[in-house]
Amino acid sequence: MKAIVYEKYGPPDGLQLKEVEKPTPKDDEVLVRVHAASVNAADLEILRGAWVARFGGPLRPQHKIPGSDIAGRVEAVGRNVKQFQPGDDVWGDLSFPYGYGTFAEHVSVSENALTLKPASMTFEEASTYPQSAIISLQTLRDKGKIQPGQKVLINGAGGGMGTFAVQLAKYFGAEVTGVDSASKLEMLRSIGADHIIDYAQEDYTKSGQRYDLILDVVAHRSVFDYRRALSPEGIFLIVGGSLTTFLQVLILGALISRMGSKKLGLNAYDANNKEDLAFLAELFEAGKVVPVIDRRYPLSEVPEALRYLEEGHVLGKVVITVEHNDKT
Ligand SMILES: NC(=O)c1ccc[n+]([C@@H]2O[C@H](COP(=O)([O-])OP(=O)(O)OC[C@H]3O[C@@H](n4cnc5c(N)ncnc54)[C@H](OP(=O)(O)O)[C@@H]3O)[C@@H](O)[C@H]2O)c1
Repeated sequence: MKAIVYEKYGPPDGLQLKEVEKPTPKDDEVLVRVHAASVNAADLEILRGAWVARFGGPLRPQHKIPGSDIAGRVEAVGRNVKQFQPGDDVWGDLSFPYGYGTFAEHVSVSENALTLKPASMTFEEASTYPQSAIISLQTLRDKGKIQPGQKVLINGAGGGMGTFAVQLAKYFGAEVTGVDSASKLEMLRSIGADHIIDYAQEDYTKSGQRYDLILDVVAHRSVFDYRRALSPEGIFLIVGGSLTTFLQVLILGALISRMGSKKLGLNAYDANNKEDLAFLAELFEAGKVVPVIDRRYPLSEVPEALRYLEEGHVLGKVVITVEHNDKT
């Protein structure tokens, strides 16, 4: 089969389209014919060997085929697989601990990573949800305890995670502020943001405005900046950002949270939670939360897709569409 392969950490140019052996499912695995795989900032960070990647592979990538999100069709199942059979359409997030590998024609993975795909979604649409939408939903609802009427700010709102977070926060009845670069602000309005901030023009932690809930996907400031931007009982949750800020939130944020009424912590992430995927499917069908898909690239152009993401142009999500010559 064809797959995108990398041997060492580095820029997208190091990725190669290669002919590799098609996997055979183990007893508890499902062989999936990949139809679509969306691109996440986390895929790029792992490719470049950012700190998050080094736990699994200190010197070299732990997995040779990148890619986390998947939508595809079950082609074969191992003998202990109970939930799926050949022909089922599935979606899932194959990031840690499931071994990645979605930038390929096929991938073999534990059945626990997969759920039946809603028939109402195309493969492309389905591939955008498993990582970005699940994290946004669980972080806002479960950790953030989002309530109607609250002032909620999403920093990095125009990207993969943020476009789901903005729509979800609106669905939960919040007054939503989206922060991103100027070129993404009109799109943020179109998906429901009540207020928009160009991060190049304004630092949301210094504006004097206070928020009940902040979800930050690109956090790089001090915890004291974030504490200042919170209302008296406000909650700040970091999803992505610098290692320094993550460590500050983990250590100082925990102390601040214990000593006062403001809370600072990490995001929630129960990957592939079936109830949450079903809930997201309902919101999709009701037209309340829909994917924002900027571009589609074929498998051979994964490096271009990642470069496009890295250059900061993407409005929402980029999707890799995997064509199969036999068309089954
Ligand atoms: N904690 C976890 O469990 C977990 C799991 C998965 C992913 N993540 C993390 O989540 C993060 C976000 O992922 P994503 O897929 O949503 O990324 P993305 O699609 O690249 O979106 C990030 C957005 O932030 C914007 N941005 C960049 N600098 C900014 C700044 N200083 N202020 C405000 N906005 C800024 C970017 O726009 P411009 O480029 O135009 O500036 C872009 O629109 C990644 O860092 C990833 O590692 C965390």
